[in-house]
Amino acid sequence: MASASRQLLARCMSSSAAAKKIAIKHVTVIGGGLMGAGIAQVAAATGHTVVLVDQTDEILKKSSKAIEDSLKRVTKKMFADKPEAASQFIEKTLSNFSTSADPAAVVHSTDLVVEAIVENLEVKNELFKRLDKFAPEHTIFASNTSSLPITDIANSTTRQDRFGGLHFFNPVPMMKLVEVLFFLSSAGYVVSRSCC
Ligand SMILES: NC(=O)c1ccc[n+]([C@@H]2O[C@H](COP(=O)([O-])OP(=O)(O)OC[C@H]3O[C@@H](n4cnc5c(N)ncnc54)[C@H](O)[C@@H]3O)[C@@H](O)[C@H]2O)c1
Repeated sequence: MASASRQLLARCMSSSAAAKKIAIKHVTVIGGGLMGAGIAQVAAATGHTVVLVDQTDEILKKSSKAIEDSLKRVTKKMFADKPEAASQFIEKTLSNFSTSADPAAVVHSTDLVVEAIVENLEVKNELFKRLDKFAPEHTIFASNTSSLPITDIANSTTRQDRFGGLHFFNPVPMMKLVEVLFFLSSAGYVVSRSCC
C-alpha cells in the first residue's frame, strides 16, 4: 500500500470517535443557481437544516420555485400511488429550508458551507475570505468548483485543514455520485465524515 494511502486509512480509523461527535446538521449552500438549488434541495430532503444564500431576494425566489418544482417531479416518481406521502415529503423538506441574501449572518451556526457560485477564483476567494471571519471554528468549507484547484480556493482562508471539494453532478437531485476531495492534512473528522 502506498504511503499516502496508509496515512489516509490511519487517519480515517483514528478519527472515527471524533467523527461521531461532529454531526453535520446545519448546512449553508451559497449560490442558488442550477447546482446550488439542487444541493440545497438534496440536503433539506435528507433532514438537514439548510439556508440557501444568493446575492438578492429576487434570485432566491427563483431558486425556491425551482426547488419546489423539482421536489414535485421527484416525489411523483418516489411516491407514485401515494399523493399524501408525496405532499408530506415536500412539506417536511421545505420546512428544513430557508433563504438569505447575507452569508455572514447565517454561517455563525452552520456545520458545513457548500459553495456553488460563479466559476471565478477571485470571486470565490473573496467569499471564503469573508466567511472565514464569521463561521465557527468547526465549520467545514467545501466548493463545488468544476475546474479550479481546491488548494487555490482554500488558501484564501485560515482553515485549509477543514476545506475540501464536494463536486456534485447535474441534475443534483437525480445524480447519486458526488466527488469528495480533501487534503491529506485535513482534520481527521473532515476526512472521516467524507470517505469512511
Ligand atoms: N452546471 C454544471 O453542470 C456544474 C456541474 C458541477 C459543478 N459546477 C460548478 O458549480 C458552480 C455553480 O455552477 P452553476 O451551474 O450552478 O452556476 P449558476 O450560474 O447557475 O449559479 C451561480 C449562482 O451563484 C450566484 N452568485 C454569484 N456570485 C455570488 C456571490 N458572491 N455570493 C452569492 N451568490 C453568488 C449567482 O447569482 C447564481 O445564482 C460553479 O463553480 C460550477 O463550475 C457546475
